[in-house]
Formats: sequence, structure tokens, C-alpha cells
Amino acid sequence: MESLRKMLVVLMTMVVTVRMVNASLVYVGGGKETWRSNVNFSEWSARQNIYVGDWLYFGFDKKLYNVLEVNKTGYEGCHDVGFIKNITRGGRDVFQVNEAKTYYFINGGGSCFGGMKVAVNVENPQPAPSPSQLTGVKSIKNGSPSRFGGHVVTLMAVLANVLLAWAIL
Ligand SMILES: *[C@@H]1O[C@H](CO)[C@@H](O)[C@H](O)[C@H]1NC(C)=O
Ligand SMILES: *[C@@H]1O[C@H](CO)[C@@H](O)[C@H](O)[C@H]1NC(C)=O
Ligand SMILES: *[C@@H]1O[C@H](CO)[C@@H](O)[C@H](O)[C@H]1NC(C)=O
Repeated sequence: MESLRKMLVVLMTMVVTVRMVNASLVYVGGGKETWRSNVNFSEWSARQNIYVGDWLYFGFDKKLYNVLEVNKTGYEGCHDVGFIKNITRGGRDVFQVNEAKTYYFINGGGSCFGGMKVAVNVENPQPAPSPSQLTGVKSIKNGSPSRFGGHVVTLMAVLANVLLAWAIL
């Protein structure tokens, strides 16, 4: 009886944890330092499925680049005045997308005109994750390796919480 109760609590913990951490870290441009010129960001963003709650990661050399959130007009015309938010911190900067809409980011300064800007289409999350999503099968299927890391983090968080729940009980 005691072990059944324990098992139930552990299962509940798993479910809650999965719901909490089912957000992905999305590497803008596809890599850890791919916010730079000569990356085709429209080609990159067309291959992504990004959901509300996900985090965008901009990795760059802060001596050369910066990240500004702008509106559509600012994106199209590369306007680095009147931006919405300056995301720039140390060059390993994250931004959480909280709404289902298109977000626009540019590099303030000349590189934007060379194509250093990105439009990110954010969708509402899908229904509760299926087991195949948790093992990363989905990530492989839609050819988006940058999402894989997020799922690994998810699994590790789930495991950590399960172990914690087990230890406390
Ligand atoms: C990016 O790739 C798309 C699709 O392959 C292409 O149409 C576009 O011209 C490219 N943009 C740049 C700036 O190279
Ligand atoms: C975009 O931002 C600029 C600068 O702040 C502003 O003048 C413009 O009206 C905005 N455009 C839209 C469509 O919100
Ligand atoms: C954005 O923030 C960075 C770091 O704080 C700063 O160096 C940069 O000048 C800012 N850019 C603009 C356009 O305000």
C-alpha cells in the first residue's frame, strides 16, 4: 500500500514536471554562435516550429553584434531606432516568446541590410506531449536538431524530479 502511494506521487510529479519544462531552447541560426552575418535566417526560420513558452537563444560576439526586437516595419526597413526591446547582454542572450505571433529581431547597424535579421513565427503549443515527442523522435522527424537539446533538458529535469520525489518520500 505504501509503495503504491509512493508510485502514484512519483507519477504525478513526472506529469507536472513535463508540463512545466516542456519548452525548448531554440538556437537562432541553428548553432551556439550563429547570430552573425552570412547566415540565411529566412531559410533557418522557415524550418522551425517554435511554440509559446520557448526560449530563443542568440549567440554572438558582442563586440560586433547586438539584438534588437523591432516591429514589422522596423524589420523590413532595418530601423534600429524606436525598437521594442534591446535583447543584447553578454552575447549568449535568451528571449522567451510568450505570444503566438511573429516576432522580429534585427542587428542594429549595417549588418541588418546584409540580411542579419530574423522573423520568428510563434505558434500555440500542441496538445500534451506524446511519448515519441519526449524521446526526441519528433525533433528528428522534422529535421530540426536545434530543438533536440530542449528535449534532453526536459528528460533530465523529469528524471531529477522523479529521483527527488523518491528520495523525499
Ligand atoms: C535565403 O534562402 C532563400 C531560400 O533558399 C533564398 O530565396 C534567399 O534569397 C536567401 N537569402 C539570402 C539573403 O541569401
Ligand atoms: C513600428 O515602430 C515604429 C518606431 O517606434 C513606429 O513609428 C511604427 O508606427 C510602428 N509600426 C507599427 C506597425 O506598429
Ligand atoms: C543594446 O544594449 C547593449 C548592451 O547593454 C548596448 O551596448 C547597446 O548600445 C544597446 N543598443 C542600443 C541600440 O541601444
